[in-house]
Amino acid sequence: MKNFEKYTKQYFPVKNAPMRWTQKDYVDHAPIWCSVDLRDGNQALINPMTLEQKLEFFKHLVKIGFKEIEVGFPAASETEYEFCRALIEQNLIPDDVTIQVLTQSREHIIKKTFEALDGAKNVIVHLYNSTSVSQREQVFRKEKNEIIDIAVMGAELCKKYRETAKGNYYFEYSPESFTGTEPEFAVEICNKVIEIWEPTPDSKVIINLPVTVSHSMPHVYANQVEYMCDNLLNRENLIISLHPHNDRGCAVADSEMGLLAGADRIEGTLFGNGERTGNVDIVTLAMNMFSQGVDPQLNFENLPEIVKHYEEITDMTVYDRQPYSGKLVFAAFSGSHQDAIAKGMNWRKEKNCQHWTVPYLPIDPEDVGRVYEADVIRINSQSGKGGVNYILENQFGISMPKNMWETVGYMIKQVSDDAHRELQPSEVYDAFEKHYINIKAPVKLKEAHYKQLGEENGIEADVTVEYNGNVINKQGQGNGRLNAVSDTLKEMLGVEYVLHTYTENAMEEKASSKAVSYVGIKDANGKNFWGVGIATDIIDSSLRALFSAVNNMINA
Ligand code: KIV
Ligand code: ZN
Repeated sequence: MKNFEKYTKQYFPVKNAPMRWTQKDYVDHAPIWCSVDLRDGNQALINPMTLEQKLEFFKHLVKIGFKEIEVGFPAASETEYEFCRALIEQNLIPDDVTIQVLTQSREHIIKKTFEALDGAKNVIVHLYNSTSVSQREQVFRKEKNEIIDIAVMGAELCKKYRETAKGNYYFEYSPESFTGTEPEFAVEICNKVIEIWEPTPDSKVIINLPVTVSHSMPHVYANQVEYMCDNLLNRENLIISLHPHNDRGCAVADSEMGLLAGADRIEGTLFGNGERTGNVDIVTLAMNMFSQGVDPQLNFENLPEIVKHYEEITDMTVYDRQPYSGKLVFAAFSGSHQDAIAKGMNWRKEKNCQHWTVPYLPIDPEDVGRVYEADVIRINSQSGKGGVNYILENQFGISMPKNMWETVGYMIKQVSDDAHRELQPSEVYDAFEKHYINIKAPVKLKEAHYKQLGEENGIEADVTVEYNGNVINKQGQGNGRLNAVSDTLKEMLGVEYVLHTYTENAMEEKASSKAVSYVGIKDANGKNFWGVGIATDIIDSSLRALFSAVNNMINA
């Protein structure tokens, strides 16, 4: 690629970072979650949400279990102001939910922000100003001390307005563009704010360390987070919050490593909506924890419904392969994956496993509202016998003998290949039915009567068939009814084969139960043919299976 030399590192790694966080391997409890869907997410939408949509989205976030929700930047737009007022005046904020509002460090904006909050019970006022080298130089053209002055001025104003406000007001400060800021300067500016706000155990201060733009690998960010935790004043009365954007596709890793490095809180959005490549996807983060046996304290038990609702309101689409929530994330098309999953599911049943260890599936799809049969085993021309068998068995009660799987697998593969598309489970069954079940041409059983030939001498069968329009009757013998009919049939039709497989299973169908029989025969050239019979009576179903197999042989 041309022009790579144009780029350089825009971050400041912590020198001699202790990296204590690398000794931990997983996050063992849920962080405090803060949804920024209604602010950061909303400001990134092509068509921002209307007031009504915001109200609906807010309720949706509450239902999922968010206890902290950034509702907007009330001083920045009339809709955001009105939304904040509507939430408060219509009493829509549950007592255990704290709303958060963003404000720049400017007097009239802070004043309007506090006006928007009048009457709220629990509030986080989120003050920010930008601190990175590029913002200081290019956007503000200010020295470090002048940037500190902006933060100090805003912090003092917030403190002043809180003195007369009614309700529980908490403060958050973000050194915006933290990841492009020298760590020493980030500590210096945050400490100035902390000194003004004087956090206590009852009134902790949130210090948010945004990955406003992602510049580095996640371990560099984690070192920065650890450095802040080590050097901020009054750490025990601080809540260290992370706000990763996803420019390098590392927002989840940034968050997880940042939590290991000492952070307590995450700001993010559903499905990672947000400026440019988005904010961190809280669903992925939460479900990553869930998949390691940690309760995420958010409810994603019906992800398809949450996706639908989100797509309707935001007009965004959730990518098919978005972790946990995409349509295809549990789908296995490939034969070997299907086979392993089906075996893993059987293992679970057999061993009554306490923990989920099924190959290829990081979590049980049913835990997020997905349907195993429809969402996991998907049939196309790459699928194998295991997947086809799984669908037929679990959705249609067809338990084929193992030596039939391969033939049926190839047949279904061919059907999908010819159609150039995935097959729905009902299409798999239709193809199976057409090829194997109750095949009655060219030879059809009309009647069969049996006589027991003493205790040891087997059965005599009197068989009447219709073959190419002619009715033929014959008697024959065998060691069971099926064999007696089969041997009579061979003579009647003048055909040669060996009946090598016979199995059956019961198929529950609404109130009644049917018998399904499977017959495998081998012709004089060693070629296998299969037939399946379904009937209420077991003898009847076995004969139907036999006639289906023989018809398949004659028709081949
Ligand atoms: O990404 C960011 O830095 C922000 C701040 C306002 C926290 O959204
Ligand atoms: Zn942001």
